[in-house]
Parts: sequence; C-alpha cells; structure tokens
Amino acid sequence: MDIPPRTRAWIEVAAPALRRNYRRVARALGPDPWIVPMVKADGYGLGARQVVQALAPEGPAAWGVATLAEGAALRDAGVDDAVIVFSPIPPGEVEAAVALELAVAVSDGALLDLLAAEGRRRGRPARVHLEVDTGMGRAGFPASSPARWAPAVAALRDGPAGGLRWDGLFTHLHSADEAGGPGVDDQLRAFQAVVSALVPPPSVRLHVANSAGAFRLGARAGGARPGIFLYGGGIGPDLPTPEPVAAVRARIVRVADVPAGATVGYGATYRAERPERWATLAVGYGDGLPRCLGNRGHALVAGRRVPLVGRISMDVAVANISGLPGVEAGNVATLVGRDGMEEISLDEVAALADTISYEILTGWTPRLPRTWTEAE
Ligand SMILES: Cc1ncc(COP(=O)(O)O)c(C=O)c1O
Repeated sequence: MDIPPRTRAWIEVAAPALRRNYRRVARALGPDPWIVPMVKADGYGLGARQVVQALAPEGPAAWGVATLAEGAALRDAGVDDAVIVFSPIPPGEVEAAVALELAVAVSDGALLDLLAAEGRRRGRPARVHLEVDTGMGRAGFPASSPARWAPAVAALRDGPAGGLRWDGLFTHLHSADEAGGPGVDDQLRAFQAVVSALVPPPSVRLHVANSAGAFRLGARAGGARPGIFLYGGGIGPDLPTPEPVAAVRARIVRVADVPAGATVGYGATYRAERPERWATLAVGYGDGLPRCLGNRGHALVAGRRVPLVGRISMDVAVANISGLPGVEAGNVATLVGRDGMEEISLDEVAALADTISYEILTGWTPRLPRTWTEAE
C-alpha cells in the first residue's frame, strides 16, 4: 500500500525558486552565459531528475555530475542533453562513459589514451574537458607546467579521427566564497597563463566558476558550474544571498505535559526546570537531522521558534513547546525553512552543526520524500 507523502517527515522543494536562483547566476555572467548546473549527489540531495526537469527550460549548456553512475542515472531517466562527469573516472569506467556519450573531466595522459582508444574503437569520439589544477590540488594537470602535458593536448587537437573531442578546459576555485582573499585572482591568472600557453581552438569552452565565482568574476568566469546557490545555500558574506529552495518538515507525533524534573533523550541531558510541554517530532539523525543539534538547534511550530531539547534520536527529536497552546499530534514542525514570519535557514543549521550547507543538504536520507512544487 502506498503511504501518502507527507505523513511523517519530508522535504519541500520549490522549483520556481530554483529557477530564479539560476537566472541570478545567469545575469551575473553577462550576455549569453554558458552554464552547467551541478546536479551531482542527486542534485545536492534534492533529486537530480527533478532539478533537470525544473531547469531544462532555462537552456543550460550541460548537466554536471560527479560520477559515472550519476551520469548513467540521468541517461536512464531519458536525459539526452550533454552531461559532464567531473570527478576523475577510474579506467574501468571508460567504456561506459563513451557508450553513454558522457563527457569526462580528464587530469592525466593515461586516462586520455584510454578514452581515445575507446573512442576510436566505437567510432564515436570521447568528449573531454581538460582540468587544470590551479590550487585545488585534487585533480587536474598542474598549471605550473603546461609544457609537460603538451602531448596530451596534441592528442586532443587530432580531434574525432583520434577518438577524442575536446569540449572544454577548466579549473575549480577553492576560495571564491571568501571575501577579499587573493585566491580567486591568483587561480584565474594561473588558468589564463595555461590558456595562453596552449591556445585551445575557439570551440573549446573555458569554464572557471562555481556559484561564488560566478558572482565574483562575472563575465571573466567564462562559463560557470553553479551548485549550492541554485539550491539555496549561501556563498559568502559579501555575495548575494539565494532564495531558499528546500524546506524540511516533520509531523508532531506526541505532545506531553511533563512535570519539573522530567528528562528527555539518551543520556538524559535535558531536565525540565518547571512543568513543561514537549512535542515529539518524527525526524531524527536517521533522516539526516544532525545529531549535534540536540540542546542547540530549533524547530518552528505554529510560527514560533522553539528549542530542541535533549539528544536527537535516530528517528525522533523533541522540542520544548511550553507556552504554545493548541499544538497537537499531526501538526507540522519545520526544521529548515519558513513558518509564518519565522525562518530557519539552511546556513543557520549548517553553522550550528559546525559544517557547510552542502553537507546538510546532501545528508538528508532517502527516508524523506522530496516533494516538488511549482507553486509560488
Ligand atoms: C568541479 C566543480 N564545479 C562546480 C561545483 C559547484 O560548486 P558550488 O556548489 O560551490 O557552486 C563543484 C562542487 O563542488 C565542483 O566540484
């Protein structure tokens, strides 16, 4: 039997807000922007297929994933647009990448050779975005020595006859979300030096920016690969704030009036100082609510901010709703998002949990249905 989607806990995702955030990135890049929305990690946890559906009308240049399996999942979902796999793929995935016509980011000559061989074998060139390491240090040909990788570039210049199609040249910024730091300009300079040394053909797309980079660099970014800003995560204190896109809600499943001295949760870390009213929320760390929010975080109930008391359990959390009349089982509590005039932002939760919005977003488990809406 199908259980209705909003009985326990769920994530509401607003497609119009996602599109508006996309358009803000597009405007920042200037006329005729080249944009690859990052839909890796299942669209930052919100559902890659639905993100693609919501953003397709905006006409992005391609979709960005991290792994071959994520690209294959898009193909399975009927997405036949350009897809780029950004994390370096292991040799065992070369055949599938070419078969599925997934473009891949390449950081070394050995992978390029394998792709070229597979492209020739299939009579279908492997699509390649060459990555340049300008300081991220996890992938890419080192920017400091373009001459050393000239042979790889020569193979790309051979074009389809050699089994390869050179689609892009890119780097990844490590500090674009930091105000005033030298990082972005240094990386851009290093990238531009590589471009000057290699002189790629005009058909090769240059792309530098993540979300923060798109706003910091504007048209200088070339193309952009925004992720977190689209999904409502902040990108730095001096840069624009995105519209919230996702709200996390849970049903209240129990309301209890407790006497002074009552305790709650493992370790009994919270004790009622006076008679209190507690609400049990049907969401816990098994759903992705960070356990460290116990005795630190908040929920919104009936438009009011209330503290989470005691440790978060795997399946439930408890909020102190003392002084809030009329709350009963079946009412909705908000862990991230807006309720009336109150809001708990993704970045507030991330800061409390001593992490970043990316980890909070991608941490929601499959227990929570993602319910997409077109409503404003
Ligand atoms: C290669 C690459 N480009 C772009 C992005 C998107 O970054 P952000 O989510 O900060 O916009 C990522 C994500 O980390 C990435 O790995």
